[in-house]
Amino acid sequence: MSSRAAIAHEAVYPDNYFCEVPSDPCAIVMFGASGDLARRKLLPALYDLAVHSCLAPRFRLLGFARTEMSNEAFQKQATEFLPDKAPSGDGKAARQDFLQHLQYFTGNYDDGESYRRLAKRLEALDREAELGGNRLFYLATPPAVYPRIVEQLGRAGLAKPKNDGSWVRIIVEKPFGHDGASARALNAQLLSVFDESQIFRIDHYLGKETVQNLLVFRFGNGIFEPLWSRNYVDSVQITAAESLGVERRAAFYESAGALRDMVQSHVLQLTSLVAMETPANFDATAVRNEKIKVLQSIRPLDRNSVHKHVVRGQYGPGCVNGEDVPGYRDEPGVNRNSSTETFVALKLQIDNWRWSGVPFYLRTGKRLAHPAAEIAISFKSAPHMVFQGEAVEPNSLVLNIQPQEGISLSFGAKTPGTKLHISPVAMDFYYRRAFGAGSREAYATLINDCVRGDATLFDRADSVEAAWALVDPILDAWRSSPPPAFPNYPAGSEGPDAAFQLVEAEGRHWRPLP
Ligand code: BG6
Repeated sequence: MSSRAAIAHEAVYPDNYFCEVPSDPCAIVMFGASGDLARRKLLPALYDLAVHSCLAPRFRLLGFARTEMSNEAFQKQATEFLPDKAPSGDGKAARQDFLQHLQYFTGNYDDGESYRRLAKRLEALDREAELGGNRLFYLATPPAVYPRIVEQLGRAGLAKPKNDGSWVRIIVEKPFGHDGASARALNAQLLSVFDESQIFRIDHYLGKETVQNLLVFRFGNGIFEPLWSRNYVDSVQITAAESLGVERRAAFYESAGALRDMVQSHVLQLTSLVAMETPANFDATAVRNEKIKVLQSIRPLDRNSVHKHVVRGQYGPGCVNGEDVPGYRDEPGVNRNSSTETFVALKLQIDNWRWSGVPFYLRTGKRLAHPAAEIAISFKSAPHMVFQGEAVEPNSLVLNIQPQEGISLSFGAKTPGTKLHISPVAMDFYYRRAFGAGSREAYATLINDCVRGDATLFDRADSVEAAWALVDPILDAWRSSPPPAFPNYPAGSEGPDAAFQLVEAEGRHWRPLP
């Protein structure tokens, strides 16, 4: 199936995707417009917003990249990644209409002259389409280029809104820094040019419908919150498993690894959302204040605890979905002796009143048996078992983030018949079954929030730095100790043996990957 056909097949357009009020007219400048992220994720997300009346009819998208390209060639490239369907009427006409808003700009990221030309082009667009001076800069280039773009935007006077009610915002893609020091330097540089309220640090996991639903589940329902603490919870498992390998991203991944790529961002974000206290309201400051308290309460890992509580792995050759696949070291662009980890499992402790003594087990990896992102809350067993001779599994609540989007609560039920037997059963909620639709692409949700100035689902400077403060000691400890004998798990498995030992040593088990 071509990528286009695959997208068309999956397109769904529930009514609730429409916006009652479109965003302000604006120019969106996409740096790195010829890259994979822009083409595969960002352009389809913008199309989704345009056809659901979320973007102002007068928006303009200016793709900025080094490659020479005409507007027409850029539009043609974009078409390949847009769905065939539109929510109503003719999909072809909707695509054509969207493409009319796309223009291309050839420039060098570190050349002042390019930004002076950009400023002129934006002024011309403002006049032509009456955009009111509103601008959104989207950094979708390799991260090494961010500092140069930010500096040049500042120098060209493009970072500050005019004093006429217009706005200027910037979205910064992850990874945000390579470690704590580089993240702090990037924050300092961004804040020397932009104001914090203009900066939207994106973590696409936060835009996933199921991740947002975690907050609704916890804070929109009365019956779960009383259970959500050390009084009833035995342990929490957070899994972000992928069956895909490193794909075409070896250049990036070799210097990142699973800890930086997934744990520092997505997995710690999920941890914050599961563990946070109830915010005073659902605005950006209140929610983000509660999230950062979780990161600040996680017990820091020292060298000894890294050794005991953090496991790293790298996949070798194996079989995924019935297909033989190479090991990480045999992937194109990967060093044959690479010590980059493609798997991490770790145990964290949150030292606060709610969670003291409840272990949080986190794991993420590439080329695992099945793709699954989920949060599993395991509850304590009944304090006394009146059904003699029956072993009843403790209740568990699983929030499935993907691909089986939904929630499942397991409990023991009497097996029909004369003898009293107890079997585990589950009450399941599936998004598709309940709402007739799957989730919207996370990027559409997040870009929509950004053009409306809502930063609730974006990361704040302090929380990015707090996440690095947890990850840095692990990186330090790994640097100063020899890596395990890699590869240490075959592609298509559920990870290295040491990851199983991590939880089994404490009398628990990982949930099998579904
Ligand atoms: C990205 C990571 O942030 O998230 C990738 O860089 C990873 O390595 C991806 O594959 C996973 O996102 P999703 O939405 O496909 O689960």
